[in-house]
Amino acid sequence: MTSSEIRKRFLDFFAKRGHAILPSASLVPENDPSVLFNTAGMQPLVPYLMGQKHPLGARLASCQKCVRTGDLEDIGDNRHFSFFEMLGNWSLGDYFKQEAISWSYEFLTSKEEGLGLDPARLAVTLFEGDENAPFDQESKDIWMSLGIPEHRIFALPAEDNWWSPGDNGPCGPCSEMFYDMNGDFLGQEISKESFVEQVKKETFIEIWNDVFMEYEKKDGKVIGKLSQKNVDTGAGLERITAVMQGKNTAYDTDILSGVMEMVKSGSVNYGERSARIITDHLRTATFMIADGVFPSNKDRGYVLRRIIRRAAFRVGQLGLSQESYTQVISAITEKYESIYNIEKNKISEIFNQEVTKFTKTLDAGLKEFEKGVDPFLLATTYGFPIELTEELAKEKGIAIDRADFDVKMKAHQDLSRSGSEQKFKGGLANTNEATVKLHTAHHLLLAALQEVVDKNIHQRGSNITEERLRMDFSFDRKVTPEELQKVETLVNSWIEAKLPVVRREMPREEAEKLGAEMEFGAKYPDIVSVYTIQNTNDEYVSKEFCGGPHVTNTSEIGKFKIQKEEASSAGVRRIKAVIE
Ligand code: SER
Repeated sequence: MTSSEIRKRFLDFFAKRGHAILPSASLVPENDPSVLFNTAGMQPLVPYLMGQKHPLGARLASCQKCVRTGDLEDIGDNRHFSFFEMLGNWSLGDYFKQEAISWSYEFLTSKEEGLGLDPARLAVTLFEGDENAPFDQESKDIWMSLGIPEHRIFALPAEDNWWSPGDNGPCGPCSEMFYDMNGDFLGQEISKESFVEQVKKETFIEIWNDVFMEYEKKDGKVIGKLSQKNVDTGAGLERITAVMQGKNTAYDTDILSGVMEMVKSGSVNYGERSARIITDHLRTATFMIADGVFPSNKDRGYVLRRIIRRAAFRVGQLGLSQESYTQVISAITEKYESIYNIEKNKISEIFNQEVTKFTKTLDAGLKEFEKGVDPFLLATTYGFPIELTEELAKEKGIAIDRADFDVKMKAHQDLSRSGSEQKFKGGLANTNEATVKLHTAHHLLLAALQEVVDKNIHQRGSNITEERLRMDFSFDRKVTPEELQKVETLVNSWIEAKLPVVRREMPREEAEKLGAEMEFGAKYPDIVSVYTIQNTNDEYVSKEFCGGPHVTNTSEIGKFKIQKEEASSAGVRRIKAVIE
């Protein structure tokens, strides 16, 4: 069965059972600032799952474009894709577990209307219960009534069988369906431990998830039931297709095998993993661009930029010419153009522009590389994918501490992620590389003003965008050009000295004793976060009460430049500065 037929069968099956078929929403969520991209079919439906009436009724189904980029490093294995299509059906306060589970089972096993999978190769999981909701006996009874033997039903904890799209919104226990890929366990009893083991080994593959969304989460905690009981199901088209075509991975199915072939035939030095990464990333970039995302240093644009750079590096590794990868992009768009709206030329054009830009940073990064290998700096400042740094280091016989890099990157990404999600919480409008650097530069600027101009200068206001920082501070005359020059030089000397930026949590009193800079008029909690920067003699250059995020070393900032000094209000001056 081809992937197109699977998609069609799914939608027809649910249409016949009273579901309105929704077209896929854009990858870019329309009214949901909490996520950068739609990561599940339910995402565009959140308001309706929360109780709003949907114009097309209470039974819906769709095939939704999704992007998940949380684990880009894993791409190239059999299972992870940064773009995929999710088949799903929903009940908005209409049917519940009985129908949802029965239809899932029927679609999976029916030869006429569904996939015709052998029921003896299925296994299912359900929620074992905790303080938020009880053991899901009802689902168990339904599965058994359909003929799934008790020893093929596994109760698992919330970690596996509770689904929610984030810290806020609808959520609930789920029941997942698994398929025995090689038919090794036909009719056999399997222990829970062995089943969990087989899932890790990918002999049992998860193919569908039925979520019974009747609860609500707030700030990460389940706070109670929703006004209605919903059903949210999701089945990855890539996985189902791999199962149906007896392949270990979707790269070998009709969805991607043609593209993989094309990458192969254009390659000078073929490598399977690189080819998979190119295939995955070009498909994701294609869909992102088709939905209006442009490469940039911010939010979605930054995700796209990273994906294109990673792809570009692999393109270089395999020795694919521009003509070859343009053909690959064409092959991808042709594959999908009957279903989704994609402008082929626009995609190649944006891709090429970005590759050209990256080639420039690539050169600057290579120069930096010659000075000394700092994979984290290369990644965050020059956009070097770690694989590239590793590759280059290997050629030179230099060892890379990958674990150290992963730890730093993880912290960096967590900061970026929490920054994007909680936009205004920390006082920073956007957390991305540019603003993080400017934020640390802001601390250095204040410290330099105190050292060069007047030690009684304190911050009165602050605003950071991607382009510049702006600081208001108490001072009752103009800061002279000579003073500004000295301030700028001092800040740059701290940057050049590569000073570590350290975050510590401590009781407010202790931070006050330390003399950490506080914002005038601000109220601080009992435990505060303090960022300190010490010079090479261990003297404090800067210490401030601050939630962050910051760079981990001043060397990451780049060249600091003051652009303007002016009056802000009586007794308050304002400086604007940039990083060049
Ligand atoms: N939202 C659930 C998932 O993504 C079911 O669609 O698995």
